[in-house]
Amino acid sequence: MARKKLIAANWKMYKTPAEAKAFVDAFLPLVAGHTRDEIALFPSPVLLPTVIAAAKDSNVAVGCQNIHFAEEGAYTGETSVGQLIAVGGTHTLIGHSERRQYFAETDEIVNKKLHTALKHGIVPIVCVGEVLAEREAGKTESVLKTQVTGAFANITAEAAAPIVIAYEPVWAIGTGKTATPEMAVEAHKIIRAEVTKLLGADVAAKMRILYGGSVKPDNATALCGQEEIDGALVGGASLKPDSFTAIVKY
Ligand code: PGA
Repeated sequence: MARKKLIAANWKMYKTPAEAKAFVDAFLPLVAGHTRDEIALFPSPVLLPTVIAAAKDSNVAVGCQNIHFAEEGAYTGETSVGQLIAVGGTHTLIGHSERRQYFAETDEIVNKKLHTALKHGIVPIVCVGEVLAEREAGKTESVLKTQVTGAFANITAEAAAPIVIAYEPVWAIGTGKTATPEMAVEAHKIIRAEVTKLLGADVAAKMRILYGGSVKPDNATALCGQEEIDGALVGGASLKPDSFTAIVKY
């Protein structure tokens, strides 16, 4: 069964509202009529209203890079799922490795955020991936299994349909070092097997698993062309309309 691919831009902590609007204005005509893949942009929260307004009625979805698991509360600096929905956002990243590394997000926190996103009908992209030392120690498989199991705690097969996973080997993020298609496919198979164990073959067969980590126009075809790779989560190369378009149209 063919899964529709999703090509997503993680802008991280880049762009002003004016720069974000200029991107969308230049980008939309370049991808107009592109229906083969889904497209989504993940700007900083302060940019969301600008980007959502600029992308209104287009084939480009917009989401947050992070949400809090609580509905609301005294959590200085955080964004709630209700705030995301109120400005028209439809997606969120959860557990990006930079969140795990710099903001101490654990699998337990990722799991709580996943429950919150699903409860409110937000499409979650759950990020998993090993660091270099883990890969070199032969621990990639156990790390991925632990992260997937932790993220999916108490998630039912009925609720899981919207979930997207992004496999992002941490050593490939922002380093220019990409996993080979073979390495990515191997990791995706480990992840899909774990989802099968947890939620059944039907859910696993439909779940999209994206690859992320130094995806560029010149390696996007080799990666996204794989049947097992259901799209890409793109950081650096998503900041310019031309290079992100080249990846969307790999
Ligand atoms: P990169 O980032 O494409 O710059 O490696 C990917 C990501 O962090 O999602």
